[in-house]
Amino acid sequence: MKLTAQEQMELEGFLQGLHRTQEAEQMKQYIQHGRISTYDHVLRVVRLSFYLNRRLHLGASDPELVRGAFLHDFYLYDWHQNGYVGRLHGLHHPAIALKNAAQRYTLTPRECNIIKSHMWPLTLFAFPKYREAYIVCLADKICSSYEVVACR
Ligand SMILES: [Fe+2]
Ligand SMILES: [Fe+2]
Repeated sequence: MKLTAQEQMELEGFLQGLHRTQEAEQMKQYIQHGRISTYDHVLRVVRLSFYLNRRLHLGASDPELVRGAFLHDFYLYDWHQNGYVGRLHGLHHPAIALKNAAQRYTLTPRECNIIKSHMWPLTLFAFPKYREAYIVCLADKICSSYEVVACR
């Protein structure tokens, strides 16, 4: 997956500094899979979602796709060390991420749906309603599988 310099610049613009906040910095401390931090994971999902949208001409809204992808795991804790939340993390963290993101940013319906439905079909009733959400749901599964396998 290779983005052009122009695409990389556009992507930075769409992020609108989301990746440079104190909370984004915090995400560098939390482990997502193996040795991959949540910060690195969400940036991978951002890049893959954007890449798929561009290369396959999927017609999703780039700014919403990129922002939603960055915030999809904005739950702000280490799920390996969080007891009850840890065990049910897969099921609950999309709602926690959405709550955190909505407290800090004005989100569009597409961005909300991307965050809430990214674990579908695990979250049976929180399903993707927009193409942006389908793309992130797929990109997240590809990146997560890669990270788990790569760390073995
Ligand atoms: Fe997630
Ligand atoms: Fe994720």
